[in-house]
Amino acid sequence: MSTVNPKTAGSETRRGPGGLAHLLPRTADLTRRQFAQISALARSVCGLNLHSRKRELVKARLHKRLRQLQLDSFDEYLDYLRSDASADELVAMLDALVTNVTSFFRHVEQFEYLVGVVLPRKIAGAAESGRRLRIWSAGCSTGEEAYSIAIAVAETVPHIGAWDVAILATALSTGVLRRASDGVYTAERLRPIPLHLRGKYFTRVQARPKELYRVRENIRPLVHFRRLNLMGLWPMRGTFDVIFCRNVMIYFDKATQDRLIERLREVLAPGGTVFVGHSESLTNPDRGFRYVRPAIYEKP
Ligand SMILES: C[S@@+](CC[C@H](N)C(=O)[O-])C[C@H]1O[C@@H](n2cnc3c(N)ncnc32)[C@H](O)[C@@H]1O
Repeated sequence: MSTVNPKTAGSETRRGPGGLAHLLPRTADLTRRQFAQISALARSVCGLNLHSRKRELVKARLHKRLRQLQLDSFDEYLDYLRSDASADELVAMLDALVTNVTSFFRHVEQFEYLVGVVLPRKIAGAAESGRRLRIWSAGCSTGEEAYSIAIAVAETVPHIGAWDVAILATALSTGVLRRASDGVYTAERLRPIPLHLRGKYFTRVQARPKELYRVRENIRPLVHFRRLNLMGLWPMRGTFDVIFCRNVMIYFDKATQDRLIERLREVLAPGGTVFVGHSESLTNPDRGFRYVRPAIYEKP
């Protein structure tokens, strides 16, 4: 019977004849110090709040970047980040760290409120305030939120051609924005959309191997995708009637949330509506908004 030498057992497994482990990519360690530097960077650039319990998640998400750049350690990666004057790698890092989970008509009761209360009020006031509608999807991810808004508007506003409608959709990540402006989704992703609306606003562009659908031109021009860091400058002029800023603030620390909420208030028209995620609040503490119903607020 052969005995196993614990000192060499690992290397035998990695390199031994017939073993495949040496073909697998090595995983660089992410030390506390390296994690602290990465999270300080993410916090200062885009307000991201990376708790120490997210160390493994950060390591897993950034490991792919290390492999693509053929770097062996997170120290090398940090050096690379600092020396990259174009800041392209910083954007790629944030792309990898930000969560982009979303879906069509997510939190459907908010869309019911948009269609049942907000838009009818806007339509009723059009004679006075004009046929102009501005909506911002702040943190739009892959576009499902913005196109859901566009469908809701197209279904509710009569003679939409006579209106000046613009839905601004912004996100931090360039990768998701590319997908958002392509507007191509799998049949699976379209599932939350009622069947009759799927046919009206999407067209099938591929049957196999995956069934793919593209947003139709009857709503596509209503949506304008732009890259925007919510922590940076906001170049848009004028105010919004409605802002969707859902499931974005939860990733920020308290000070960043406070600053963001104050700025959202500034760009919202009086009487305008804000939709947030279900674990986000605009009235606790008081921040100058009126609570309407869960995750729905108005500017008095
Ligand atoms: C979880 S997704 C939410 C998507 C959508 N609002 C929803 O609720 O389904 C988070 C979004 O926030 C955006 N985001 C996170 N931090 C940001 C920042 N500092 N500036 C701009 N967008 C940011 C991401 O790009 C992503 O699109």
